[in-house]
Amino acid sequence: MRAGAWGIGRYLPEKIVTNFDLEKTMDTSDEWIRTRTGIEERRFADEDVDTSDMAYGAAVKALDDAGVSAEELDMILVATVTPDQPFPSVACMLQEKLGAKKAAAMDLSAACAGFMYGMITGKQFIENGGYKHVLVVGVEKLTKITNWDDRNTAVLFGDGAGAMVLGPVSGDRGILSFELGADGTGAEHLYQGPDGLVMNGREVFKFAVRQMGESSVNVIEKAGLTKEDVDYLIPHQANIRIMESARQRLELPIEKMSKTVNKYGNTSAASIPISLVEDIENGKVKDDDLLVMVGFGGGLTWGAIALRWGK
Ligand code: UT7
Repeated sequence: MRAGAWGIGRYLPEKIVTNFDLEKTMDTSDEWIRTRTGIEERRFADEDVDTSDMAYGAAVKALDDAGVSAEELDMILVATVTPDQPFPSVACMLQEKLGAKKAAAMDLSAACAGFMYGMITGKQFIENGGYKHVLVVGVEKLTKITNWDDRNTAVLFGDGAGAMVLGPVSGDRGILSFELGADGTGAEHLYQGPDGLVMNGREVFKFAVRQMGESSVNVIEKAGLTKEDVDYLIPHQANIRIMESARQRLELPIEKMSKTVNKYGNTSAASIPISLVEDIENGKVKDDDLLVMVGFGGGLTWGAIALRWGK
């Protein structure tokens, strides 16, 4: 028996902030941001909307899509580096908001690779028979930790949430293989300091280009498949140049890669599920498609999954 995706949902704040809006408040330009990152606009959550509120917005939609009630959830895993507070966890707050009375709940910290870590953790509980329904949420309110005096990073991030209900699936569907990794020696390249987020962009870029391609190839091999079997690539939406390098490594045509970084910026742990929802809505991802999802982030961390879509 294999764990797979039963349903998915997302929450995006309504407020759109374009590169031109940022030009008015910091020394930057639409041209620089677009050509270096592919980002054109991002969403910012209102002050009174916190991480748990966005998580709730995405979770309700994922449960509805899966046809699972909150009471049926056995576990809630929330991947975030921007929780409402250190504790109680966002997962416990979400359990209360949803009324998921029997669900165990915990947060998971793996930065932008958080959704991959969450899915793989949930998969274990389902495949060992302990649990049937696990809700995994990737959510960030990065505007809480953005250093607005640092143009190197302030232009990159956005707020949002994505959620997936995992459960047992039939046939060849579900999570076929995965890879998770970490390299704590690279912690200094991306972290939260006293003034907010700090990043050595060039170092993270080099690591990301290497890791995204390598992990994607590894999960395809682990699943006993080849590059030709891949229907669609969903890379962490950090920078179009990094995403492109992974696509080229898999020799996929451009229309087979998910791209929402232009509209939502880098939403860290939320970026993969946010993108996937859009791909499903646009008919780009269909039942039985072989998806490769791959993420990287602060820690340093990384993770990839080969998933055959469908319940
Ligand atoms: O989810 C994981 C999070 N992290 C990432 O994915 C980030 C990975 N890294 C990157 O995406 C890229 O390194 C960046 C987009 C952050 C930067 O792109 P780059 O091509 O590596 O630029 P750079 O750091 O080499 O900077 C080039 C120039 C610098 O000017 P000088 O020193 O050459 O005169 C910067 O000061 O661009 C300047 N610059 C800006 N100019 C206008 C940096 N930020 C900005 C800005 N607007 N916002």
